[in-house]
Amino acid sequence: MTTENRGGAMRLDRFLAEMGAGTRSQIRDAAKKGRIRVNGVVEKRADRRIDPAADAVSLDGREIAYARFEYYMLNKPQGVVSATEDNLHRTVVELITDRRRGDLFPVGRLDIDTEGLLLITNDGDLAHRLLSPKKHVDKRYLAVIEGTLPSDSRQRFAEGIVLSDGTQTMPAELEEAGDSAAPETGSAYILTIHEGKFHQVKRMFEALDCRVVYLKRMSMGSLRLDEKLRPGEYRPLTETELAMLQENC
Ligand code: URA
Repeated sequence: MTTENRGGAMRLDRFLAEMGAGTRSQIRDAAKKGRIRVNGVVEKRADRRIDPAADAVSLDGREIAYARFEYYMLNKPQGVVSATEDNLHRTVVELITDRRRGDLFPVGRLDIDTEGLLLITNDGDLAHRLLSPKKHVDKRYLAVIEGTLPSDSRQRFAEGIVLSDGTQTMPAELEEAGDSAAPETGSAYILTIHEGKFHQVKRMFEALDCRVVYLKRMSMGSLRLDEKLRPGEYRPLTETELAMLQENC
């Protein structure tokens, strides 16, 4: 889901910078070199105002459409970091190859070895609401653990777990995930948590002496991972998904 501009005129260099075409100085340079056109006419003044809803802007012959906000659902693969920049690893934002904007970021973090649902957007207000500790937005994970959980685990999760550093978590709901989700050794569970502490799911299972060997986020609030997306694939949110997210947080 992409939202178009309703905010009226804006500077050409800001328009292009927001759409990830380069820094303001690179854009000024491109303009001087005649690489930018507005409505088919070369425009050398990078500071002129344009109307993103009405004017056609191109850089090196490639038309650049404006999007105020973009929203993508990514099935995060393992080995990729939940960041916008990283010296060592590929980032989740780099996986969004169709993105129009240069200021996308992931809403929250999944560990490098965690897969699953990650919302990628530039809507800071929505991100803030989804991540706010006051909102207790539900996060549902599929966790495969080594060994078997103690028989009173469901009860212990429901009361909240004390982590190894003494942190008390909020109550969480544990369900068995069924044999189809479980690997040959180990067992699979669905855990729903209502907060987002560092490595929370892994640490909650660790507190019960079990090691998580595979973790996948299935949903966040009303947003559910589209099971058609394989790890590394993404798609824009639908209008309904976005409306439900905005309503529910
Ligand atoms: N909890 C974890 O331990 N890791 C994640 O990536 C997400 C939740």
